[in-house]
Amino acid sequence: SEQDETILRALQQNEEIVQGICDNMRNAAGTFFIGCGSSYNACLTGSYLFSKAAKLHVNPVLASEFENHEHFLTDKTLVFAVSQSGETADVLDAVNAAKRRGSRVVGIVNRDGSILARESDGQLFMNSGPEICVLSTKTYTSQVVLMEMLAYALAGKYEEGLKKIGSLYLDIYKLTSRSMREYLAKLAAILYDKRDIYLIGRGAQYATALEAALKIKEVSYIHAEAFAGGELKHGPLALIEEGVPCIVFVSSDNKSKILSNAEEIKSRGGYIIGVASEREEIFDYWIKVPEAEELNPIIQIIPMQVLAYQLAVYRGLDPDKPRNLAKSVTVT
Ligand code: AGP
Repeated sequence: SEQDETILRALQQNEEIVQGICDNMRNAAGTFFIGCGSSYNACLTGSYLFSKAAKLHVNPVLASEFENHEHFLTDKTLVFAVSQSGETADVLDAVNAAKRRGSRVVGIVNRDGSILARESDGQLFMNSGPEICVLSTKTYTSQVVLMEMLAYALAGKYEEGLKKIGSLYLDIYKLTSRSMREYLAKLAAILYDKRDIYLIGRGAQYATALEAALKIKEVSYIHAEAFAGGELKHGPLALIEEGVPCIVFVSSDNKSKILSNAEEIKSRGGYIIGVASEREEIFDYWIKVPEAEELNPIIQIIPMQVLAYQLAVYRGLDPDKPRNLAKSVTVT
């Protein structure tokens, strides 16, 4: 995986442009973050980070649902369009709607020759290099890096953010090491024939759970579904029976609550896979990750990308070419 490198390349931004974008966010009368699929999951992650780090409210909205929000747009609204390809029709339709209303559009995009790069008023380029496989992996973590960077900059901690994100290099390298890949292959051997895999997280880890579920769905065709941990008792618990696997994303800021959500599943026979910095009694399988606090959204998706890949291999599928999917969805 090149992600140890690509997160560093995402960090290489023009500080003046970043600070200018932050000023736009502070002065806007309403800010939207729109995207599809993994890019939407990055938007949702950003909304948690901006709320926590900078007490700034933004609206993460699926690009295909944006038409239901258009009447809010004015020339004071700021719209971030997040798209690695910059060609996704749902995103481009939303961008056109925003421009019709005189809103300012900032593109967070990977391909600099793309329509989004041309149509947006301002850009942050992800610098990930071309992503060949249909799945968004390195481009997802690059998008999250940019969300983290904006959150730090909004909190007046731009330099600190660059340093902390840059220091993840070694952690990411270890998370894609041979030993970790072999360890996750063992988990794939346990999960590959399951009908359903559930995933729970709270706060930004809920967005991570959504992204992990998307990866597993897309590449292994196993039904994987993410819930906010607090939602289990409002219905999804009815799905839990003996042996149903659930991946639990543990972060220092929500540890006790998410572990009690995991207990709700365990006590009904669920098989608990913990993504956490420390082993917990409740875990039937522990995926050890460093505690990276507000940077957990970058760290915790890495082993999930590897697990999704291993599940596809166990099921004899081609991880680079999942059925029914295209790399860039240029139709609405
Ligand atoms: C992610 O693994 C998928 N390939 C898909 O959800 C993708 O993120 C979505 O189609 C958005 O693509 P974009 O970032 O190029 O707009």
